[in-house]
Amino acid sequence: MKALILAGGKGTRLRPITYSIAKQLVPVANKPVIEYGIEAIRETGIEEFGFIVGDAEADIRAALGDGSRWNARFTYIRQEAPLGLAHAVATAREFLGESRFIVFLGDNLVKGGITELVDEFRHGSADASILLCEVPNPQEFGVAEIEGERVVRLVEKPKEPKSNFALVGVYLFTPKIFEAIEGLQPSFRGEYEITDAIQGLIDRGCDVRFRIVTGWWKDTGTVEAMLDANRLLLSDLVPDCKGVVRESQIEGAVQIGEGSLIERSTIRGPVVLGAGCVVRDAFVGPFTSIADDCTIEGSELEYSIVMHGSSLLHLAHRVSGSLIGRGVVVESRAGAPRVTRLVLGDHSSVQLP
Ligand code: DAU
Repeated sequence: MKALILAGGKGTRLRPITYSIAKQLVPVANKPVIEYGIEAIRETGIEEFGFIVGDAEADIRAALGDGSRWNARFTYIRQEAPLGLAHAVATAREFLGESRFIVFLGDNLVKGGITELVDEFRHGSADASILLCEVPNPQEFGVAEIEGERVVRLVEKPKEPKSNFALVGVYLFTPKIFEAIEGLQPSFRGEYEITDAIQGLIDRGCDVRFRIVTGWWKDTGTVEAMLDANRLLLSDLVPDCKGVVRESQIEGAVQIGEGSLIERSTIRGPVVLGAGCVVRDAFVGPFTSIADDCTIEGSELEYSIVMHGSSLLHLAHRVSGSLIGRGVVVESRAGAPRVTRLVLGDHSSVQLP
């Protein structure tokens, strides 16, 4: 079997972060979202990966390379425009050939693995198989109706959902899906929907099966979802200290990377702190991920993601529920006039006390 990971799209709901970084590369618990998907697929034994990429192709190639890091082979396939998941799958037709394959959305996180789903499909006779998860807000996803072991109807983002089963971004197909994609019309949101293509399979009398997620699932398409995914991943954190800790309190599960210095501070886990960071006279609270080369000084921070090379300096108010990009400086200067000075990119969002 081969794998196709979709890493195109625009990431509009994560702006301004996605102006400078593909949403699939945003780190959750200090690892790019897409790498969790790669690992889950690799666990099934699949070695041949295709990546659908758009404008962020160069960044994604640079971040993932040729696959040798995972003992796998990676091929990058350019989608000329983000015209929908079905369009993305059709774009990879040559790469996928005649084999059965798995499609995985590069911004989705599935805890609990996908190995059983893949094994069952590999050895079974179904024409397609999808992963489902019961959610309180099904209208925001593709929704499936099931009967016994089969999927009988699928609708993309229905206004009045007929079930609570959302389509998780993991699909298993045979090449029959290409025939179903060929006849598709764009949906209400102007995209060629994979949900409609699977409905096409059902309409042709094909056998479409499902499995329910056993752990948890997150589509990391919004800041809230990204922070929640970070919380869930950090809940399993194993403590490890490679840095230097002086006159500080480390509570709960905390990982500290090589060359990091913690001084006169409290770190209350779960917290992951990368390499080469400085935390001084600070409080870092639960569910926080701080990437390499960051400085947190004279400030308090909790329930947040801070990306590479950023600094929070002498802030009067605790920073909470925040997603901070790369090379950002948030600073309060003693003696400076009591004004707020901002240099913010398009679609930035700042909430002041
Ligand atoms: O997250 C699960 C949901 O994903 C499913 O419940 C829906 O049925 C499915 O349509 C999809 O909905 P989204 O609106 O969340 O899809 P999104 O546009 O976020 O795209 C998902 C991934 O696929 C993302 O990593 C970007 C990539 N993508 C997207 C499009 C539209 C592509 O590579 N090419 C594309 O043309």
